[in-house]
Amino acid sequence: MSKSHSVWVSRPLFPEVLASLARYVELSVENKETKRTPEQLHEKLAAVDGAIVGLSDRIEASVLAGNRRLRVIANLGVGYNNLDLPALTAAGILATNTPDVLTQTTADYAWALMLAAARRVSSAERWLRAGRWRGGMRFDDWLGVDVHGKTLGILGMGRIGQAVARRAVGFDMRVIYHNRSRLPEATERECRAEWVEKADLLKRSDHLVLVLPYSAQNHHAIGAAELAQMKPTAVLVNIARGGIVDDAALAAALREGTLAAAGLDVFEGEPSVNPALRELENAVLSPHIASASADTRRAMAQLAADNLLAALGYGPNAGHPPSLLNPQLLGGQGGET
Ligand code: GLV
Repeated sequence: MSKSHSVWVSRPLFPEVLASLARYVELSVENKETKRTPEQLHEKLAAVDGAIVGLSDRIEASVLAGNRRLRVIANLGVGYNNLDLPALTAAGILATNTPDVLTQTTADYAWALMLAAARRVSSAERWLRAGRWRGGMRFDDWLGVDVHGKTLGILGMGRIGQAVARRAVGFDMRVIYHNRSRLPEATERECRAEWVEKADLLKRSDHLVLVLPYSAQNHHAIGAAELAQMKPTAVLVNIARGGIVDDAALAAALREGTLAAAGLDVFEGEPSVNPALRELENAVLSPHIASASADTRRAMAQLAADNLLAALGYGPNAGHPPSLLNPQLLGGQGGET
């Protein structure tokens, strides 16, 4: 049977997810993830009815110009600052993301980075692998900072921030958070988290985890001035987005010892990483993998595929993509993500 819709997938995906798409649509799948220019994206999208894209694909107005065919962009990720949502909505193109399925895995990873940075895991491993453990180690070598019993600060208290907070009980930590809007009291109680002003959060946190979405207002939300307010013994963890932290200012703070350590999964201008950060032993660095467990990446890919099929009128959710970012296009309420 010939299929009436064509779909472009901008990177390899799990075979079973591709098979679920191929039941309904004609597929073209790229064999590697790469940063494409707006012109390349424009050309790819001009030829299809729908696309599954990832965070390295910037879907801006120029990429959509003159496109009368495209009906849906399904983003692989909960954050969607790579999409110009107003431009997509103005063009009548549905946009979706992958919330919820990655919340717990991403929260786990915030803890992995926090613990690794606080206890110098990566640096110690590099030293050991280099064959430098030959005895003669001092009792006061490799001293890190404790996690248990300390104050955990969370900037951005959405689903992932709350999941990070809930894990703090077992570490006997006090949890403080700052968010544009305060959580309902019942949620604060359940997360054992206290709302504080941003300045207090910076001053009081022993471990500060960033989980806020990227927006122009949040650009360099943590810059030199904010870092200067933090304790010299503090650990900073960024699992949010590159650009929320001023990476050059962070590298300076880590080098000068005004901040103890950092665990970073996201970077300004990734996949390039500021060389100053790469040289620092007190920075644990990873290539944007907070959601990368086998189960979760599979669930994200399947949700993106389900969203796309539903938007094109196929599958059990036909006409109702489960995580639609611009529901106003289908006569629903806009804005809730
Ligand atoms: C990953 O960064 C995501 O937004 O899902």
